Amino acid sequence: MSVKWGLLSTALINEAILAAAEESPDVDVIAVASRVEARAQSYARAHGIGRAYGSYEPLLADADVEAVYISLPNSLHGEWAVRTVEAGKHVLVEKPFSRHPTEVERAFDAAEAAGLVLSEGFMWRHHPQTARLIELVESGTIGRLRVVRAAFGFSLAEERGTADTRFDPALDGGALMDVGSYCVNALRLFGGEPERARGEQVVGPSGVDVVFAGTLAFSNELVGHFDCGFVFPRRAGLAIVGETGTIYVGDPFSIAHTGIEVRLGDAEPEQIAIEPANHYRLELENVSAAIRGEGQLLLGREDAVGQARTIDALYRSAAG
Ligand SMILES: NC(=O)c1ccc[n+]([C@@H]2O[C@H](COP(=O)([O-])OP(=O)(O)OC[C@H]3O[C@@H](n4cnc5c(N)ncnc54)[C@H](OP(=O)(O)O)[C@@H]3O)[C@@H](O)[C@H]2O)c1
Repeated sequence: MSVKWGLLSTALINEAILAAAEESPDVDVIAVASRVEARAQSYARAHGIGRAYGSYEPLLADADVEAVYISLPNSLHGEWAVRTVEAGKHVLVEKPFSRHPTEVERAFDAAEAAGLVLSEGFMWRHHPQTARLIELVESGTIGRLRVVRAAFGFSLAEERGTADTRFDPALDGGALMDVGSYCVNALRLFGGEPERARGEQVVGPSGVDVVFAGTLAFSNELVGHFDCGFVFPRRAGLAIVGETGTIYVGDPFSIAHTGIEVRLGDAEPEQIAIEPANHYRLELENVSAAIRGEGQLLLGREDAVGQARTIDALYRSAAG
């Protein structure tokens, strides 16, 4: 039986979630809430959503809504995750959950106490391309890992305008929070939890980091480094460097284009084709299956807390 979802806000990213839900027999979006009644009504009409609420609380009080997708600005994720769980609903909260580890822990404490599912929305982790990367590394294709390098950035002002919430320090904007959180997630996927984190940032006129570069030191002598930013044309990449070769991915996070390259010594690089997939759909289906008790949740407490701790450590290092 499909899980009945509600959307908390009319954020732009909802479009990807709605398109994914449309494709999936396991996911039904039955309600949307907005701070503004008229916006909720017109959004629901435009997207064929049955119920519209002019504030967030009534969606949490709707007895038919089983799970809530939280696509609010970053600084509101923690508070609304707790409120949603306290209202008895499962939660998929957009990345980055929070830069404050205690907030993430509080939300998971509440979810666990209520027996509810809570997950952070790193959709790239649900894509078969990422599963293939893990398989390649774990099967020893490139030997012992030594370096993981990630990059992600785009021109925020050009793509979204200067009023975007990511430019607002009060809403926990910033490049590390936005695109950098994927890089941190990738480094942690292959390195585990870092032992040390060092960061350097360039703060823009609005008061958020518009460029951030970080280094993470892991146990077993693996080093990760990344850079991210809001002030250059779109670029991304992931390189996983082992003692016998390197795995490259050109589009590791958005995954509009799939494909993995493996280079072993001087041999011709091997191109591994990956079937396209809708990772938003896979994410929704993973969380919905966990809600129904029919599958294992991919991203739970450990991942979200580790993620927030690392982001916090990087910001503290950059400020110090
Ligand atoms: N996984 C992904 O691929 C992906 C991609 C993009 C973004 N995201 C994440 O999704 C979240 C939303 O990003 P977005 O760019 O889609 O957001 P957005 O378009 O800026 O929308 C955020 C929504 O939050 C609501 N809101 C509540 N308080 C607000 C405030 N003080 N200022 C502005 N809006 C407020 C608004 O909805 P109402 O007015 O209707 O209440 C607004 O539409 C972020 O955490 C972001 O990191 C994830």
